[in-house]
Amino acid sequence: MRTEVIRVDAERPDRSAIMRAAEVIGRGGLVAFPTETVYGLGAAATDAAAVERIFEAKGRPATNPVIVHVAEASAAAELTAEWPRVADRLSDHFWPGPLTLVFWKRAIIPDVVTAGGPTVGLRVPAHAVAAALLRAAGAPIAAPSANRAMQLSPTHPEHVLKDLDGRIDLLLDAGATPGGIESTVVDVTVTPPQVLRPGLISRATLEGLIGRIEFRRDEATDSGAAGGGAVARSPGLMERHYAPRTPLVCMESDVAAAVLGAIAAGQRVGWLTYGPPGEVCPPGVTLVQMPLDAGEYGRRLYAALHALDATGLELIVVALPPESDAFQAIRDRLRRAGRRG
Ligand code: TXA
Ligand code: MG
Repeated sequence: MRTEVIRVDAERPDRSAIMRAAEVIGRGGLVAFPTETVYGLGAAATDAAAVERIFEAKGRPATNPVIVHVAEASAAAELTAEWPRVADRLSDHFWPGPLTLVFWKRAIIPDVVTAGGPTVGLRVPAHAVAAALLRAAGAPIAAPSANRAMQLSPTHPEHVLKDLDGRIDLLLDAGATPGGIESTVVDVTVTPPQVLRPGLISRATLEGLIGRIEFRRDEATDSGAAGGGAVARSPGLMERHYAPRTPLVCMESDVAAAVLGAIAAGQRVGWLTYGPPGEVCPPGVTLVQMPLDAGEYGRRLYAALHALDATGLELIVVALPPESDAFQAIRDRLRRAGRRG
């Protein structure tokens, strides 16, 4: 299959490009498109065969459900069996935007979308290209991140092509995505609501609106289970995700010592700093200085990891950013990137 690439303006996408993409979706094809978080790989959400093609193109295990994108909250409500009051507050405040809400689903959502489960994750994206595509398609679009399974999420069109060129019908290329980190996934089928995946909207921001919120217990995150108690893990969330091919270690401190140790062991090393490195970078080390600001850090994280991954290193040493609300999702992604297997 040849992958068609159409360049579109990120703020005012050309109508003919959007119509072309909507037509591909309408006939069951696959379209990669930008959202405010990362690029998504879209197919018609109510067309089981089309959604199966997403799983094939990504090499995604059938046990991992995909997020369904809709143009507005009223379209989301049509896909849910129950709409709790807390969902009104969250959707009024954060949609369109980087928040995915998990609801009890209606039968119109095929099993392949939800990995056979009874719930569906829904979100209204804010990116002008995603919004225009959803309106033109006039139907919900299932879209996981547009990368091969277990690989880094794509924040640039080149990242999409690196993984999926020849495996998808069309890429709408609108340059870099503005957010850089995926949406926050919140399960509203339980009380209090539970964060299944930290993301661009932080815990403090969510709690400022709706009060106490629990976090799924996960050793890859800092948060653990805020409220205690065993909670069913979201399918797919335990797999190694968001990972470069190069082994990666996360350091809270003693970063320079870890870099020096790897050099002494004869390894080709990359160093992802948090702000200025603080110590002189040893010769031969590939240094990427990351910003102190969490928003800027998030925008650059995956591109930095993609770039380091392309240089044939044997180890990436990461100076973890602080354990603060603003950095929670970033620390979560870094820890997952460091998880092997
Ligand atoms: O920002 C984002 O969320 C991007 C853009 C494209 O929207 N999408 C994205 O999709 O990151 P994906 O498939 O890479 O990650 C979706 C996450 C997965 O961890 C999946 O397990 C979880 O959301 N998820 C999806 N539907 C779910 C459901 N019904 N119940 C629990 N978790 C769900
Ligand atoms: Mg993904």
